[in-house]
Amino acid sequence: MENLIINHSKPLYGEVTVSGSKNAVLPILAATVLTSGENIIHDVPELEDVKIMEEILSTVGSKISSDSPNSLKVETTAIKNFEIPYELVTKMRASILLLGPLLARCGKASVSFPGGCAIGSRPIDLHLKGLSAMGADIEQSNGLITASAKKLIGKKIYLDFPSVGATENLIMAAVLAEGETILENAAIEPEIVDLSTYLSSCGAQIQGAGTDTVKITGVPELKGSEHTVISDRIEAGTFMIASAITGGNVLIKNVIPAHLKPITAKLKEANIEVSEELNAIRVKGGNLIKNVDIKTLPYPGFPTDMQAQFATLMTTSAGNSIIVETIFENRFLYVPELIRLGANIKIDGRAAVISGNASLNGAKVKATDLRAGAALILAGLVADGVTTVTDLYHIDRGYEKLDQKLSALGANISRIETE
Ligand code: EPZ
Repeated sequence: MENLIINHSKPLYGEVTVSGSKNAVLPILAATVLTSGENIIHDVPELEDVKIMEEILSTVGSKISSDSPNSLKVETTAIKNFEIPYELVTKMRASILLLGPLLARCGKASVSFPGGCAIGSRPIDLHLKGLSAMGADIEQSNGLITASAKKLIGKKIYLDFPSVGATENLIMAAVLAEGETILENAAIEPEIVDLSTYLSSCGAQIQGAGTDTVKITGVPELKGSEHTVISDRIEAGTFMIASAITGGNVLIKNVIPAHLKPITAKLKEANIEVSEELNAIRVKGGNLIKNVDIKTLPYPGFPTDMQAQFATLMTTSAGNSIIVETIFENRFLYVPELIRLGANIKIDGRAAVISGNASLNGAKVKATDLRAGAALILAGLVADGVTTVTDLYHIDRGYEKLDQKLSALGANISRIETE
């Protein structure tokens, strides 16, 4: 087991390069199942979730190799198994993204029902509703979801909620379907656009990705292709807050500033200096941090995956702020841990009221989910004394070398083995 030991750190300074996006690379790797050729995917972040996705792809019959760091070669000549076992699905909920591509490629898919997780029940009703609208028979028994269809038929599907995963699953199901599929009220996150860019490079016919109406015209087959994954906007946002909260001056490289607009807007409102460059963004703290209210919304609203990190920043602001979480029903699990560090936060349903001017003091805290872990690390940077963060597997699922990158910016942080 490993823990992070974090001491109060001086202002962060220097440059950091953001890795490829976890939430783009996972659907793209799932989508390689749709192609019968060789795919080369670059800027693949070294994450636990990616390792699990590689295991899943090998289970279904893909051959995976790597000639250089952060690049993967994935080739799926034939599917030899269409069942994704429970032990893999429970490790990573995004396994459900194999449902659409497996069904489209081999007419059958069987994925263990992904349970809920710390942040919510995480239903998949919109995924299943869309697939059955396209002609799939969906059976749910013994904790397994089995979908089968001789041939999926293109349909017009309205998503009750702009679900990222459902949009991705249905795009992947539709690219080999018969005829035209139109997804309405689709999610418009940048990761959807990156998936569509990859699939189009394989020969898929997709229009409108990144808008709320996506039109997919089915094609007989897809060939493999080479693709570079977009950078991780949530990792970038996490480093933006790391610089802001420590009063630092950090240049964050390999970013797409347009994807960071909601975060940039809120940081500027909080009196943080943010300046955009071509593929980089500079964040300078040091001024008095203003208290700012946020409400999480689907893109391009403020991202739910940045909610916990922003809450940590607001504990050090000059006044009270209110955070409303509209995407997930249980995404304040980090609050009791922040309170252990001396924060003063009151939760009322989907809202959290954060008192500013907190003097945070180091303590032992546990990461309850991926982004909560990041929020606790940010708090540890400015808390007096030593903060120990446990349950690092949450963090390692979604951040590539976060502690090493922070340490290179001057953070007083180290990873230790514990018995
Ligand atoms: C993706 O999850 C991301 N994960 C999440 O990132 C992110 O928080 C989320 O999108 C929202 O942006 C990956 O891309 C791997 P949703 P996903 O389907 O696809 C409800 C992180 O920290 N819903 O848009 O599961 C659902 O309950 C992770 O990197 C249904 O009701 O998100 C939730 O309230 C956390 N029925 C809301 O929609 C469905 O069939 C958003 O879910 C599907 C979703």
